Amino acid sequence: MTDDAASSALDHVVVAVDGPSGSGKSSVSRGVAARLGLRYLDTGSMYRALTWWLLAHGVDVHDREAVTVAVERPLIVPGTDPASPTIEVDGVDVAAPIRGPDVTAAVSAVSAVPAARERLARLQRQVIGAGGIVVEGRDIGTVVVPEAPVKVFLTADPAVRARRRTAELEHTDDVHATRADLERRDALDSGRDVSPLTRAEDAVEVDATHLSLAEVVQAVVALVLDRTGCEVA
Ligand code: DC
Repeated sequence: MTDDAASSALDHVVVAVDGPSGSGKSSVSRGVAARLGLRYLDTGSMYRALTWWLLAHGVDVHDREAVTVAVERPLIVPGTDPASPTIEVDGVDVAAPIRGPDVTAAVSAVSAVPAARERLARLQRQVIGAGGIVVEGRDIGTVVVPEAPVKVFLTADPAVRARRRTAELEHTDDVHATRADLERRDALDSGRDVSPLTRAEDAVEVDATHLSLAEVVQAVVALVLDRTGCEVA
């Protein structure tokens, strides 16, 4: 392939990165996007942003009817720069508060509501547009972009995921509590009726338990270059 054709294949590629909480999806996806000059979309931050807005407006997140009625109201704008991903709701920068314990405790309930998933999947497809993007989440390869040419299912041992996630969090250093929370969310995400966390049949499973971040990024970059027919990034 010529350099021009190679760069245009990358311009339109969609790389779907799914997997459970704490498997390293964000770091890996951002690293791959930065290496290949692609945009980056964190769909988990969109579920968190919607949850933040519902809590801020006094909506009971366990009341499916109330959530369904409210889902179209907030204006949710995710940024796509892998160097500094942003997320705004009604013009407010919510990047910090959406990582707090209140939103984390409530987000699985919100993401189990079909109307919430439909609204955010629609928004995600708008952002993805013509491609050139790495998208991370739970249902990207199965529901949001089933036609994505590159699908990765990233996993890691629960103890490793809990350790890494605890290191990222500012409000706790309790690995046991973080592990319990990850396992609770895994069970809810995998067990829900709509778009449960499952590996797409055509996804490449990468177990990051014994790999460094750089090794996982390298493996995914190699996969993208192979699938797009590009030899050099
Ligand atoms: O990746 P994260 O932990 O920030 O995601 C927050 C929650 O959002 C997670 O518990 C499951 C949900 N989620 C989802 O249901 N579908 C997605 N595509 C992304 C996240």
